[in-house]
Amino acid sequence: MYRTHNCGELRKEHIGQKVTLCGWVQLKRDKGGMIWIDLRDRYGITQLAAEQTTTAPELVKKIDKIGREFVIQVEGEVIERYSKNDKISTGDIEIKIENLKILSESEIPPFTIIDNTDGGDELRMKYRYLDIRRNPVKNALLLRHSIAQEIRKYLDAQNFVEIETPVLIKSTPEGARDFVVPSRMNPGEFYALPQSPQTFKQLLMIAGMDRYFQIVKCFRDEDLRADRQPEFTQIDCEMSFVEQNDILEIFEGMTKFLFKTVKGLEINYDFPRMPYSEAMEKYGNDKPDIRFGMTITDVSENVKGKNFVVFDSVDYIGGICLNGGAEYSRKQIDELTEFVKIPQVGAKGLVYCKYNSDGTFKSSVDKFYSESDWAIIAEKMNAQKGDMILILAGEKERTLHGLSELRLRLGNELGLRPRDSFAPLWIIEFPLLEFDAESGRYHAKHHPFTAPFDEDISLFETEPEKIRAKAYDLVINGVEIGGGSIRIFDKELQALMFKNLGFTKEDAEAQFGFLMNAFKYGAPPHGGIALGFDRLCSMFGGVDSIRDFIAFPKNNSGRDVMIDSPSKISQAQLNELGLILGETE
Ligand code: AMO
Repeated sequence: MYRTHNCGELRKEHIGQKVTLCGWVQLKRDKGGMIWIDLRDRYGITQLAAEQTTTAPELVKKIDKIGREFVIQVEGEVIERYSKNDKISTGDIEIKIENLKILSESEIPPFTIIDNTDGGDELRMKYRYLDIRRNPVKNALLLRHSIAQEIRKYLDAQNFVEIETPVLIKSTPEGARDFVVPSRMNPGEFYALPQSPQTFKQLLMIAGMDRYFQIVKCFRDEDLRADRQPEFTQIDCEMSFVEQNDILEIFEGMTKFLFKTVKGLEINYDFPRMPYSEAMEKYGNDKPDIRFGMTITDVSENVKGKNFVVFDSVDYIGGICLNGGAEYSRKQIDELTEFVKIPQVGAKGLVYCKYNSDGTFKSSVDKFYSESDWAIIAEKMNAQKGDMILILAGEKERTLHGLSELRLRLGNELGLRPRDSFAPLWIIEFPLLEFDAESGRYHAKHHPFTAPFDEDISLFETEPEKIRAKAYDLVINGVEIGGGSIRIFDKELQALMFKNLGFTKEDAEAQFGFLMNAFKYGAPPHGGIALGFDRLCSMFGGVDSIRDFIAFPKNNSGRDVMIDSPSKISQAQLNELGLILGETE
């Protein structure tokens, strides 16, 4: 037996017992004839002690030899500690070393394995197995584990069945590029890795499985960000004989259950349900952080026609009201102006108007607007004395985006987005289609299997962009945690949808023949949702980046710097696969 206890287990009541522990040497201190070692494992740290004069010389020699991150086995007696450490659970005791075995030596690690490490990001990723020894990363993985367990508990209790779907599949169009895998046995042909198990879970409904879930890896070849990885995990679900409301209730229930069991937080209200159009008009994006106000007001009709060419020449002018903003200095306003001009925000400039505490208005465009003009705008925006109105103008979608970015920046600056408060909501009534100017055709906003509102189907003929979808997103604190929809289960309607997406009959048949065929044999009404598991974990963990919650993540160029992947393959492998490499750009 290697050990009798782990390093986080021993307490006062174990004093006097002989124990054996194993672990990594976190730290060795040598002071006034005493040697102390902090021994670490997944469960905690236990202090080991040896007095130089009373310890056998061979044992002292062995202790001398060990350094940071050596793996050792120690036998000894649990004794009371002279100076207690109330910061760790084993802080009342220490082990008087009686025997010690070095199980494995360690070179000096490339960074110090402590909570606040000196190791930079790239170095920690290269030696991720060392990084995981640190508490913040270890705890993130433990949190991920407990969330997964609670999810399984909840879904199992609701009759969901966990079913695995294949990883080598045919490409499903979900908006991103596919990762493809050549097939040796079928030269010239490729599998695609799933962007999600979308079609399989629908087939499982046709197969009669009624309620499916899977905590599943998905693969998307897209530009990476803090909340995007090329391979990530979804809590993927599908249900039969349901309407939108049934799905929202089950997954609102799951979200509340997780908040309670994982974070100890009781959410005892219904999540708001906000139509997509309202989210866009008020917050400028479809994943609003509703923990704070500062919502957007369309002031186009109040500011046009006053000879200010900038406003007269655009189709949309919107503003947000910054509480206490009248006190902002020139420098602070200049900083905001610079911010709105960066490409990610995309505005041309910022117009401001201070509503001073004496009731007067002072704006950056005083030449064109009178006090009474501003008074009307201030009333419309519900601005109070002491506030500042910030205005952007331009093409509507772009300007709303700019206002959204400005609002979020101010929210961050003013501490209105604390990590320990949560505001979940559903976004509903997404448009079914969006027009893509580049390809000159409509794309599915969610995916091609999403059902339109029954009463909007006639709009396919006239105004397809106005068709609302039975689609929904779960949003928490400005992050899209999940999304799903009620599916089309009628093959005629599915064919109409493919037609509107610009698929010829042959294309649709080639790509989705298997699904359309299945619809011929009795498809139940069905719908589902997928939650981003990594995003959910980082939300619960209070961190922006999902990388911290993935054991072996990729960097921003999609590389795993630890195993050095992607990498070249041998000519023999290429030959076997029948692949000839061309020039890459
Ligand atoms: P969707 O594409 O909205 O829906 O994805 C569902 C959720 O998965 C998460 N997510 C990601 N997380 C990390 N890195 C990524 N690259 C990434 N991409 C998406 C998000 C998102 O809300 N098949 C449908 C679901 C359905 O209709 O049932 C789908 O995949 O949190």
